[in-house]
Amino acid sequence: MIAGPSLSCYCLLFLFLLGDAGAEGSQKAAPEQIHLSYPGEAGCMTVTWTTWVPAASEVQFGLQLGGVLPLRAQGTSSLFVDGGLLRRKLYMHRVTLRGLLPGVHYVYRCGSAQGWSRRFRFRALQSGPNWSPRLAVFGDMGADNPQALPRLRRETQRGMYDVVLHVGDFAYNMDQDNARVGDTFMRMIEPVAASVPYMTCPGNHEERYNFSNYRARFSMPGDTEGLWYSWDLGPAHIISFSTEVYFYLHYGRHLIQKQFRWLERDLQKANNNRALRPWIITMGHRPMYCSNADLDDCTRHESKVRKGLSGGHYGLEDLFYKYGVDLQLWAHEHSYERLWPIYDYQVYNGSRESPYTNPRGPIHIITGSAGCEELLTPFNPFPRPWSAIRVKEYGFTRLHILNGTHLHVQQVSDDQDGKIVDDVWLVRPRQGRRTYL
Ligand SMILES: *[C@@H]1O[C@H](CO)[C@@H](O)[C@H](O)[C@H]1NC(C)=O
Ligand SMILES: *[C@@H]1O[C@H](CO)[C@@H](O)[C@H](O)[C@H]1NC(C)=O
Ligand SMILES: *[C@@H]1O[C@H](CO)[C@@H](O)[C@H](O)[C@H]1NC(C)=O
Ligand SMILES: [Fe+2]
Repeated sequence: MIAGPSLSCYCLLFLFLLGDAGAEGSQKAAPEQIHLSYPGEAGCMTVTWTTWVPAASEVQFGLQLGGVLPLRAQGTSSLFVDGGLLRRKLYMHRVTLRGLLPGVHYVYRCGSAQGWSRRFRFRALQSGPNWSPRLAVFGDMGADNPQALPRLRRETQRGMYDVVLHVGDFAYNMDQDNARVGDTFMRMIEPVAASVPYMTCPGNHEERYNFSNYRARFSMPGDTEGLWYSWDLGPAHIISFSTEVYFYLHYGRHLIQKQFRWLERDLQKANNNRALRPWIITMGHRPMYCSNADLDDCTRHESKVRKGLSGGHYGLEDLFYKYGVDLQLWAHEHSYERLWPIYDYQVYNGSRESPYTNPRGPIHIITGSAGCEELLTPFNPFPRPWSAIRVKEYGFTRLHILNGTHLHVQQVSDDQDGKIVDDVWLVRPRQGRRTYL
């Protein structure tokens, strides 16, 4: 009499445990945190995702939304062990699709027989220099308070962007809570990043365990695990690099020199190719200049990114000026600021009426207001002669590279429901682009 009920309880409990274990087992091989990146080769796109157990890495793709996906691509997976106490294990899968037709919409799903993702859609990038890429650009977006994300998601789904540039500082921080914050963030950006290539550079918030979460989670062109790399997009050459090598010297001082030498070689090559791809655009997390009210590197006259380490070694301002970089994208300050064309604190307007037509120095834009738990950064109350506009509102930047001579920049305010709060054209002639000297 007494044993009856308790026995059925055990049975129920046993069935419950069995059922749960079974469900979790299959979920663990199901892809999550799916995102795209452009590997730098025409007709290609890389799909990256995470599973919790080892599994094969396959992408099935095709042109039709419904029905079978006739094309297949295989890739590889690697084990990432987070540096936190739990040493959590993530299996990172990478598959590169090849032979994509320029500008064509594809449908894909990723995974293996152990579990497939839902279907996503992306448009293969156009190839060659003669098209007009549209980019969304921002930095400093966290898993908490990602103000720009809903609008970015809507606009991405509407097909407004070809590429997203996230200029450092993700999740706040990807390593936190044994890298669960990184998982949460990567799931949050999936509706954007699984549909357009999500291109990155490292920021200070990625520093933990020698940038290991950053290196493991993203798949950027080249062989530096995304620390520095470059690629061509329409009429532009885009260079992504790490400002963090100047600040976390204990991970290796030699990285400053290594990156600097790579940058110089890359800029030389880009200049030799300038007839084809006239724009040179850089992205790095910590700016050389800013007029915020804090004690960051960019508020110092001799900022490390601008002038290099003491003694003036490996400063980037001279390098970027020498090779005629057109536009420098930065973040880190949680605000938006655009500078007049500048070199060494001197303004080099094209002319007083049209400062950005034939500018005689690079243009800097600091766009770090996508939203995070640290909120917005105030500005110094004293305006600087080199600062053109300052916006302390959440938002992100639109970059439309129309052709080899015209580039359009807009700042979208989320605080003002998508209002354009800055709008400028950069115009440079095709001839004489190599230097400003
Ligand atoms: C940090 O990572 C870089 C890039 O992979 C590597 O060259 C360097 O040796 C690492 N530093 C340490 C201290 O492990
Ligand atoms: C650059 O152009 C802007 C806009 O016309 C103007 O306000 C600023 O004073 C100019 N700066 C210099 C140094 O000519
Ligand atoms: C580049 O785009 C601008 C703005 O639309 C246009 O005025 C200009 O004629 C274009 N240049 C070429 C060479 O197509
Ligand atoms: Fe930062």
